[in-house]
Amino acid sequence: QGWTTSFWPGTQWIAFELTGDVQFRDAALGHARDFARRVQDEEDLETHDLGFLYTLASVAPWRLLSDQASRAAALRAADALMRRFLEPAGIVQAWGDLSDPAQRGRTIIDSLMNMPLLTWAFEQTGEERYADAVRRHTTQLREHILREDDSTFHTFYWDAETGEPLRGGTEQGAFDQSCWARGQAWGIYGFALNHKATGDPQLLEASRRSAEYFLAHLPSDRVPFWDLVYTDGSDAPRDSSAGAIAVCGLLELAALETDPALADRWRAEARGILTSLIANYAPETPEASDALILHSVYDLPKDNGIDEGTLWGDYFYL
Ligand code: GLY
Repeated sequence: QGWTTSFWPGTQWIAFELTGDVQFRDAALGHARDFARRVQDEEDLETHDLGFLYTLASVAPWRLLSDQASRAAALRAADALMRRFLEPAGIVQAWGDLSDPAQRGRTIIDSLMNMPLLTWAFEQTGEERYADAVRRHTTQLREHILREDDSTFHTFYWDAETGEPLRGGTEQGAFDQSCWARGQAWGIYGFALNHKATGDPQLLEASRRSAEYFLAHLPSDRVPFWDLVYTDGSDAPRDSSAGAIAVCGLLELAALETDPALADRWRAEARGILTSLIANYAPETPEASDALILHSVYDLPKDNGIDEGTLWGDYFYL
């Protein structure tokens, strides 16, 4: 799947940082070379997921090893992502060719996690256009994808010609007005990261609101069903990956929190989810599965990847 291919080298970089074992570094550098080739050849660039892809595969080796080829690849990817920034809507289009009428003017909550590539490009180059895109895109998501009751739409459309906000909907959630669990987890983490990047206090508040809703809709073992409309007693599948992402998001939020009592609460909630992932979702022995955590859902409406381990679930869990 296109958006997932950097979670493997991302996991190898974490393993290298944790252990110092150069086999992890060398394996991840092999991927970095291929990502550099891909962006040079303009391969698989028609997606906002360039943020996930090149932050993990290329920014990481630049940060850890000052690898110049990876820095150049990541800057090239940031420019490809900027080509998806639509005026006058002020959003980065999520999926597909920019001329595809089904995708035109559409973005998704996950896109918050792709903005750090643009923030990094701004830090590297000082070019304001990257930071401006981050500010405008995240403001649009805060205003339209985050709903009044603090839940989130998975996807939202703008009129690409006038910039007018049109309507929310879903692609991977249960129904348009439901709250897809992984989307809400992307909201906690993504609004927090973009608050850190922009200093905008409204993005801190958006992360808090996403967290409150997520936590209030967890079942008793603290790991969400794949959509937050399901509660204790349902036989719907869980999405452990949403739990792992939420743990990372809550810890990021706690680190940025201006209210110490809230910071303590976010940390305690993160610990509660992580404790349950370790106790109830990790394989009983390392030999039992290639995955670090079991029971995730990729895309239930399309019957794709139900009750499986996932690369991204493992990455955020690690
Ligand atoms: N970003 C794609 C997903 O969460 O399924």
